[in-house]
Amino acid sequence: TIKNSTNIVWHKCSIEKIDRQELLQQKGCVIWITGLSGSGKSTLACALSRGLHSRRKLTYILDGDNVRHGLNRDLHFKAEDRAENIRRIGEVAKLFADAGVICIASLISPYRKDRDACRALLPEGDFIEVFMDVPLQVCEARDPKGLYKLARAGKIKGFTGIDDPYEPPLNSEIVLQQKEGVCVSPSDMAETVMYYLERKG
Ligand code: PPS
Repeated sequence: TIKNSTNIVWHKCSIEKIDRQELLQQKGCVIWITGLSGSGKSTLACALSRGLHSRRKLTYILDGDNVRHGLNRDLHFKAEDRAENIRRIGEVAKLFADAGVICIASLISPYRKDRDACRALLPEGDFIEVFMDVPLQVCEARDPKGLYKLARAGKIKGFTGIDDPYEPPLNSEIVLQQKEGVCVSPSDMAETVMYYLERKG
């Protein structure tokens, strides 16, 4: 259960997001990359961070796997734990965006309502959802960590796409499709996202 704060008053400072953005010459926002394990989320996050960095934009990646080593190390993979993982990453991403940083969150985030709750934390237009639309069989054939094999063998229970749900986004800002036998390079995918960001200012 999540308690709401009581007897707590928001403290405002005269230096605000707009001032930090002015200093950094960029707009803080959250790029939320969702998709199955092995769909290329972390690879895209990294390519995007490189591409933006080379354009002198400050980015920071919040990767589900990495955050689970520290802040979220108390969480497992049942629905409530995933929801809490996503909630915390959403809140941290919001802080980064408020700091003026382009925050790239990369996690499976299988439930629509959890992703939408993170979207609702940010001003309109500041949450850009990128859906890695890669069929399960492609992710499973890649199996970069051997986890699908373990899940098929029943050695991992509740693995997303095998015996746990993934709810694809219905209205994400960007859909990156990857079909069987067709290879789109991570830098091309990053270009698509950067083109979107440029168009939106
Ligand atoms: S979630 O659903 O958003 O909370 O997941 P996330 O924080 O992105 O963590 C996913 C990575 O954890 C590994 N892993 C599992 N994934 C899915 N289901 C189960 N049961 C599971 N157990 C471990 C897996 O390596 C995921 O990494 P990615 O980068 O997505 O392949």
